[in-house]
Amino acid sequence: MEYQIANRLRHVQGSIIRELFKLANDPDIIGFGGGNPSPETFPVDDIARIAAEVFACNPVSVLQYGLSEGYPALRETMKKHLLKTEGISFEDNELYIVSGGQQSADLVSKTLINEGDIIITEEPAFVGCLNTFRSYGAKLVGVPVKPDGMDIEKLEETLKSYPQAKLMYIISCFQNPTGFTTSAEKRKQIYELAQKYDVMIFEDNPYGEIRFSGEHVPPIKTLDADGRVIYTGSFSKVMAPAFRLGFMVFNKGLSERLTVAKQCADTHSNVLFQYICNEYMTKCDYAAHIASACEVYRKKADLMLGEMEKKFHPDVTFNRPEGGLFVMAFLPEGMDSFEFVQEGIRRGVACVPGVAFVVDQSKPSSGFRLNYSTPSDEQIVRGVDILGKLTYEWLDK
Ligand SMILES: Cc1ncc(COP(=O)(O)O)c(C=O)c1O
Repeated sequence: MEYQIANRLRHVQGSIIRELFKLANDPDIIGFGGGNPSPETFPVDDIARIAAEVFACNPVSVLQYGLSEGYPALRETMKKHLLKTEGISFEDNELYIVSGGQQSADLVSKTLINEGDIIITEEPAFVGCLNTFRSYGAKLVGVPVKPDGMDIEKLEETLKSYPQAKLMYIISCFQNPTGFTTSAEKRKQIYELAQKYDVMIFEDNPYGEIRFSGEHVPPIKTLDADGRVIYTGSFSKVMAPAFRLGFMVFNKGLSERLTVAKQCADTHSNVLFQYICNEYMTKCDYAAHIASACEVYRKKADLMLGEMEKKFHPDVTFNRPEGGLFVMAFLPEGMDSFEFVQEGIRRGVACVPGVAFVVDQSKPSSGFRLNYSTPSDEQIVRGVDILGKLTYEWLDK
């Protein structure tokens, strides 16, 4: 049968990362291409114990349908946690539990985006959310992201060129794919521009708690005086991605429509894991858990960056991320990383070419993303050595 695929999906390409992920599972390939958190950070014993307790004490509650907005106790726990750790207040804001940060992008799009609407995005940016926006027929316009956040001049030019733009997409901490963090100064400028040009902001912060150096920077959401910022975070990197749980903070004025959007998507998020998250956050030492996860990532990042400094051609540039799971390296301007990455895979190391994260995939992209959270120390050393030799061959040829 010839299927008549809907316009909304016809032009959305499958994720290059997911394809590479298949290769990364080949035991002979060193996988710098994935984005999985380190399994070392999963609190397995506590999760198993809490799950057993929950089934013993509350079997019906965790197996029955739940509330669309989320398990009330976890919502309250997260509100207190975000007030304390990020300074987000809940006088005018509401928090819902969602099925991963990715679902926040889906619910925001379902609620606010009409076909043809403009979304201004950092470029490069997380392909999963870009594809979600694309699947709702949004037209994406990229603004280059620098080590301290979006290029503000280009952002203003873009806002002038697209006065009808509806939403800006910002990954404020340890951005995927670059590892860059938007500075406090730029967060303020971005918010002021959003006010000036009357655009909403979707602030995506799944990595914020995984800071292993530098100073905490308050989210753009803390500047939000008029309810234009929707903030999202995730339990994927701090508990376990298979929980498929995240949270979304937004002005109370959007509550009713977002509840409807959630009901249209999946009714509610996984109840058992919401119970487990709440028990873990209220009864275990969550701060100590985060601190030990940050230490795992700090060590791995230090190792990878140190090896890159030693082994990469000096004309290949990269920044030191202060947290998160990724670093992006850049071949000299004008070079395309796609073939470089393919050759890397042939030699046994998988990373992701920058083209996976851009708006217009027909243009060359010099960056390639490396993940340090899942490879072993030995793989990091060996993989960077292989790529380092390749940078010399590639640049000197
Ligand atoms: C920037 C960004 N946003 C959202 C997500 C989605 O995360 P989740 O597992 O919570 O759906 C990811 C996952 O890698 C991400 O990197």
